Amino acid sequence: MTLLDVRGLTVRTSDGRTLVDDLSFTLAGGERLGLIGESGSGKSLTTLAVLGLLPDGMSAAGSVELAGVQIVGVPEKRLTGVRGRDAAVVFQEPLTALDPLMRVGRQIAEPLGRRTGLKGRDLRRAVADALAQVRLPDPDRIARAFPHEISGGQRQRVALAMALACEPKLLIADEPTTALDVSVQAEMLELMDTLVRERGMAVLFVSHDLAVVARITDRALVMKGGRAVEEGTVDALVRSPREEYTRTLVASARRLESALDLRSSR
Ligand SMILES: Nc1ncnc2c1ncn2[C@@H]1O[C@H](COP(=O)(O)OP(=O)(O)O)[C@@H](O)[C@H]1O
Ligand SMILES: [Mg+2]
Repeated sequence: MTLLDVRGLTVRTSDGRTLVDDLSFTLAGGERLGLIGESGSGKSLTTLAVLGLLPDGMSAAGSVELAGVQIVGVPEKRLTGVRGRDAAVVFQEPLTALDPLMRVGRQIAEPLGRRTGLKGRDLRRAVADALAQVRLPDPDRIARAFPHEISGGQRQRVALAMALACEPKLLIADEPTTALDVSVQAEMLELMDTLVRERGMAVLFVSHDLAVVARITDRALVMKGGRAVEEGTVDALVRSPREEYTRTLVASARRLESALDLRSSR
């Protein structure tokens, strides 16, 4: 069944610039798709449009149906139920999702409590479980910490735990490892891969790096200047790219060989 159906999505600024141009793709339940393209190609605006979260002064046209619900043209207030239940997002910078003034545990308790109805001690235990699931050591200590008191890698795990707490059908990850040290990137990708697989969630995974996309998805859509350049399996894009632009992306994906090796062994 189609979970996400994007048809002719176009994003324009109020002064008439077209930043995403007639983009179409679909994602079935449990399926994964990568969005790949150089910086500025419209990947993030696409994910924001899917969530109904475009910045002020930007408008979307076309159609985005998430679990059968139209997102384009619907007032943001009416979409809050859809977000979280049907789709959750992990951004490049985890601080985007986290409230700097609220302890980590409380931030996870909010969506978790809403979904499960748990309270008090039971909810606190569920929060610790959620933090342990994203392999954070000493979850009770992390739960009491403020976001600035933990490392960037730990913050991104917290952001992932928050997204998963809603048990969404679709996880959107926009450059989730780009801001992290190289040493923790691979671990984060492996963690996402495992947790998403266990839950049978669909993933829309955004990166400028084809090698990173290859670790999570088998299929990818290449974007340039707000448009779709080509779409196919990662293997086909690497081995027989139809477009010159895809070829340059492949060439710049330095760690591609090892990523493909890693994928074939999983
Ligand atoms: N808030 C904004 N106001 C004006 N232009 C924006 C805004 N956000 C993004 N853009 C422009 O839209 C284009 C696509 O941006 P984005 O979707 O963030 O690209 P990507 O995520 O692929 O790097 C870029 O040219 C960027 O400068
Ligand atoms: Mg971006």
